[in-house]
Amino acid sequence: MIRGGVAVLDFGSQYSQLIARRVREIGVYCELVAGNAPYEEVEKLDPRALILSGGPRSVYEEEAPRPDPRVLQADVPLLGICYGMHLLALGYGGEVQGSDSREYGPARVRTETDSLLFDGVSDGARAWMSHGDRVTRLPEGFVRTAGTESLPIAAMEDRSGLRFGVQFHPEVRHTEFGDLLLRNFLLEVSSIQPDWNMSRFRSAAIAGIRERMSGGAKVVLGLSGGVDSSVVAALLHEAVPGRFTPIFVDTGLLRRGERESVETTFRDHFGMDLLTMDAGAEFVDALRGVADPESKRKIIGRKFVEVFERAAESIEGITHLAQGTLYPDVIESTPFRGPSATIKSHHNVGGLPERMDLQLLEPLRELFKDEVRSLGRELGLPEEMVSRHPFPGPGLAVRIIGEVSAENLELLRSADGIFLDFLKRKGIYDEIWQAFAVLLPIHTVGVMGDRRTYDRVVALRAVTSVDGMTADWYRMDPSHLAEVSAEIVNRVEGISRVVYDVSSKPPGTIEWE
Ligand code: XMP
Repeated sequence: MIRGGVAVLDFGSQYSQLIARRVREIGVYCELVAGNAPYEEVEKLDPRALILSGGPRSVYEEEAPRPDPRVLQADVPLLGICYGMHLLALGYGGEVQGSDSREYGPARVRTETDSLLFDGVSDGARAWMSHGDRVTRLPEGFVRTAGTESLPIAAMEDRSGLRFGVQFHPEVRHTEFGDLLLRNFLLEVSSIQPDWNMSRFRSAAIAGIRERMSGGAKVVLGLSGGVDSSVVAALLHEAVPGRFTPIFVDTGLLRRGERESVETTFRDHFGMDLLTMDAGAEFVDALRGVADPESKRKIIGRKFVEVFERAAESIEGITHLAQGTLYPDVIESTPFRGPSATIKSHHNVGGLPERMDLQLLEPLRELFKDEVRSLGRELGLPEEMVSRHPFPGPGLAVRIIGEVSAENLELLRSADGIFLDFLKRKGIYDEIWQAFAVLLPIHTVGVMGDRRTYDRVVALRAVTSVDGMTADWYRMDPSHLAEVSAEIVNRVEGISRVVYDVSSKPPGTIEWE
């Protein structure tokens, strides 16, 4: 936990995470706390300012989440956004009213009086609205600071200059002065120094790891070559060198060149004591004859735990297990989040720490993905590793539709490798969230030279996305498609046809299985 930043009290708005990101982008550390958490939870963070988020409820509903009354008395500045503003209005004795229609979309804001919060905001600037209820009477001691054509009280503040409410959403990019308003609140009103950056985080994280691992403790980590585990490895190596062993399980389900790149980076470049488990044959054996996607995933998950445990047991005196859990995974388990939060639960190798009786270290739990990438750069990881596309735990097995075999793996690995190299060569790899090939379980007729062929088909998939939860198919230039398709068919014997997947998520998923 990092003290002295901002606490966002989360009342369930779809934008709560976004508030935290914006605050951090300004250089101020920020964490979400459940909106109705006891004040002690908030106090633990020793915040310099509090932000009350929006939320889907109406403040008059019985079930509506409310803050601990001590929040409203806190001696730090408070900013209430939308539902958060309604809570302030009600809490200090004003009035909020429901309306039959929701206001959703842009509105022009007229500023009313001199307000530090609106300093530099031009009259008529565009703000983003998304609300049903509205403040209809100001609490005693408050003034109106902005209005719109249809909404008299679009912003309010009290005369002490510590309590602010805005009906619109400054965290959304459509609010053209949103960043300015948040800066005013954090840096001017609350006088916070914007000194949160990855270099500070790095020192704090290393100190934290050393404290948790005092007295000769030893730690292992499942290193996959993905960004998150790679960054954890670099941190642990710096924090407790000699007491850290990264374990790399070569499942045989990896992309072309993956093992070599992990070994070169971590063993050769960083000089880590990397333990590679050569388990490809074991995984293929365990998967023999299995075509059902869920069964494949379960078998791979179990096998991974088995091989990992075997590796960890071969090292004496292990006390800790490190994992690359990120902040969105942590936030998703706070109250007021919808069922969408559980979509990714199957993605982690759960249960390992309990089974192995180890203490868990999660040094990235406070970070968003883009922050993990910056931290990776700060720690000297190669750019290629830091900006690489996500890759699923079960690896190529879920990209071979039907049975996984050594031959199928080889076909897919070759086609996939050609595709990824192609995207890098054309300079479009970084425009794409994730790109890969999928091997289909069918043969189709073709002709090569004068010969009739009856060979396999690969589907190419490339998607754009912000967080993997939704995705759109990447509009690849047709000349690029033609070129890469020809390259795959010419270079991979056994593949005679290439198709391009034009499904979005939803209704599709990014992976095919
Ligand atoms: P889907 O296919 O659900 O994938 O749209 C969303 C994102 O999650 C990745 N993914 C996984 N990652 N273990 C992982 O570590 C898994 O079992 C797994 N399944 C999907 C997928 O590659 C995409 O980035």
